[in-house]
Amino acid sequence: MNILSIETSCDETAVSLVRATGGFPHATYTVLGNALFSQASIHAQYGGVFPAVAKREHARTLVPMLAEALQQANVLTERIPEPLPNDQSDTLRSILAREPALSEATVPFLESHIQPPIDLIAVTHGPGLEPALWVGVNFARALSLSWGAPIVPVNHMEGHVLSSIFKEGHLDEIAFPAIALLISGGHTELILIKDWLSYELIGKTRDDAVGEAFDKVARMLGLPYPGGPEISKLADAARAEGLTPPFPLPRPMLDAQNLDFSFSGLKTAVRYGVDGTEHTPREKSGIAREFEDSVTEVLIEKTRRAIDQNEAKTLILGGGVTANRHIRASFREYFMNEYPMLTVYIPDAHLSTDNSVMIALAGHAKAATALRGGDLSDIKAEGNLSLNDCL
Ligand code: KG4
Ligand code: ZN
Repeated sequence: MNILSIETSCDETAVSLVRATGGFPHATYTVLGNALFSQASIHAQYGGVFPAVAKREHARTLVPMLAEALQQANVLTERIPEPLPNDQSDTLRSILAREPALSEATVPFLESHIQPPIDLIAVTHGPGLEPALWVGVNFARALSLSWGAPIVPVNHMEGHVLSSIFKEGHLDEIAFPAIALLISGGHTELILIKDWLSYELIGKTRDDAVGEAFDKVARMLGLPYPGGPEISKLADAARAEGLTPPFPLPRPMLDAQNLDFSFSGLKTAVRYGVDGTEHTPREKSGIAREFEDSVTEVLIEKTRRAIDQNEAKTLILGGGVTANRHIRASFREYFMNEYPMLTVYIPDAHLSTDNSVMIALAGHAKAATALRGGDLSDIKAEGNLSLNDCL
């Protein structure tokens, strides 16, 4: 089965074509085409992701990403343009009415290309920025209608979970129960997975997500967006040079007997510490290191508790923040030493931030139970979708 997958939940516009041979979870997956446009440098000038800008950029780049993914897969075939039947073109234009730039690009693309061999369209419908999600959802609906391929709405966080256990074209055979720690710009969640496709939210942040805290602290230190990688570089340099912070930071929520997180107090502590003074580059590196150490210690401790409470056999890390070198190394070292029987999955660095291959995997997982055809008008972008709603 060839799966076309579309991801537009935040500031990455991504389209992939993935071939699944066999049924979930034992299929072999071949990535035939994978196109991704990161809007990060566009958002950098505003210091964060603006939903209206993200929406505009998705609308501008989706058709080029589709063409690139199909081209890589060798299934982009031009034809002498043929107008679409009137009723089809009217339906497409009405689906894409809220994204005129996308509508203007999509109709000519369909008129001038032969229908590619696609059996399923998987699209992220949440969680994420709603205006951004809608662009992908409406694009998927338009393609689904004109190619007659069924559509399956995918939970972005399930994509992060599956991309972590995706190794060499297969999903690993994991032992349940598993605990997933999902850390991204919008989420910080501990999830209990008792079986494939069965998710229970057991801990979450009460305020900022980890990635959001990284980005905000970076801004306080005068670093560009996205701040996570910038903080990481400074913190690594501080460790290499043995730099200590000019002030200590708290380890929030460690005393609370639950699995929830809170990072806004930590962020505020950095703000008070920085206190409008101009810090030297070495001091900034020390602050970055202390912040990263605090976050890492809290994440490890809460994850350890979740593992103990549920006698988990597998730990899965997912989300953009798992690209962080120190967090990856610290989790590996701690759990390898303290929990030698636990299998730990950390996504390959290129699959840890948002991408559409993971959306194809999650689409395949859901396809058997949730295929949609016919009336697609009920597929909605749901910004606050949780992984509990996934089934
Ligand atoms: O999963 P993701 O690509 O998008 C969301 O779904 O949010 O995660 C993006 C987040 C951003 O906050 C970014 O600063 C953070 O992941 N991030 C990092 C690193 N690379 C990306 N945070 C810490 N260290 C990194 N190396
Ligand atoms: Zn993400």
